[in-house]
Amino acid sequence: MKISIIGAGFVGATTAYRLVERKMCHELILLDKDADMAKGKALDLMQAAPSLQSDVMICGTGDYQMIENSDIIIISAGFPRVEGMSRDDLLYKNAEVVKAIVPNIVKYAPKSILICVTNPLDAMTYLVHKLSGFDSKKVIGMAGLLDTERFRAFIAEKLQVSASQVQTIVLGTHGAPMVPIINHTFVAGRPLVEILPPKDIDDLVQRTINAGAEIISYLKTGSAYFAPAGAIFEMTQAIVRNQRKILPASGYLCGQYGFNDIYLGVPLKLNKDGISEIIEINLTKDEQLRLEKAAEHVKKMIAIL
Ligand code: LAC
Repeated sequence: MKISIIGAGFVGATTAYRLVERKMCHELILLDKDADMAKGKALDLMQAAPSLQSDVMICGTGDYQMIENSDIIIISAGFPRVEGMSRDDLLYKNAEVVKAIVPNIVKYAPKSILICVTNPLDAMTYLVHKLSGFDSKKVIGMAGLLDTERFRAFIAEKLQVSASQVQTIVLGTHGAPMVPIINHTFVAGRPLVEILPPKDIDDLVQRTINAGAEIISYLKTGSAYFAPAGAIFEMTQAIVRNQRKILPASGYLCGQYGFNDIYLGVPLKLNKDGISEIIEINLTKDEQLRLEKAAEHVKKMIAIL
């Protein structure tokens, strides 16, 4: 198993640390257009590996040839949001970043599974799919899981329970129109709607929608990376270990939920080949309507691209 991470910023480097710590591959490539940064971080990681009892071979580089024959490639390159920006404001700049990366992936690792993390997430994943020509089963966007983990964390904090006992799912798009599915939200098997009044649930939903921006308001010049890296790690693990785990992530829809030719956050079953199944869960009328709003939002951005 060889994994390459393109973009050695905070998200890429934190993901690399988790992959090395959990021995998710034999070889890990950290690539950045700033080759020295990639080399420096890779060296630091290599020197951390003994304390992690990890034998992963780590290489930092700016040379795409190094990603040759990767099994999985994580695209975490791109401009981050800074204060006052929405994810959509990154559309043009990050489309250029993605356009520079994808031909190299096609050239050196045509059989790889791609996990796209660049914002605006759903539109960028669509672009990666179209430019690569890869089967949509092998092009997945990371965001629904991040939003879901954030919602879980906020519910757990509010109720003072272990997040491991909170089950929920956030669908749609990684942005303001995201759709937390309240009717599929349980705490140790109890529906959330039986535990909290609607106003409290709504506050938690709003906090989830603003979670990325809340962090940026403190960091000012950068955005979140621990939780994004955690979500990338979980998705990667599901593929590497052939876990057949159902995780919310951005997948290419051909008729599911009534949408076509779009990347949208839905429950995806992940195995060693990428997406093995797109799961269609029952939605209330309101949830379906909100999902349609999310889809409209993504379609608009795709049209601009
Ligand atoms: C966030 C950025 C990474 O949600 O989109 O924190």
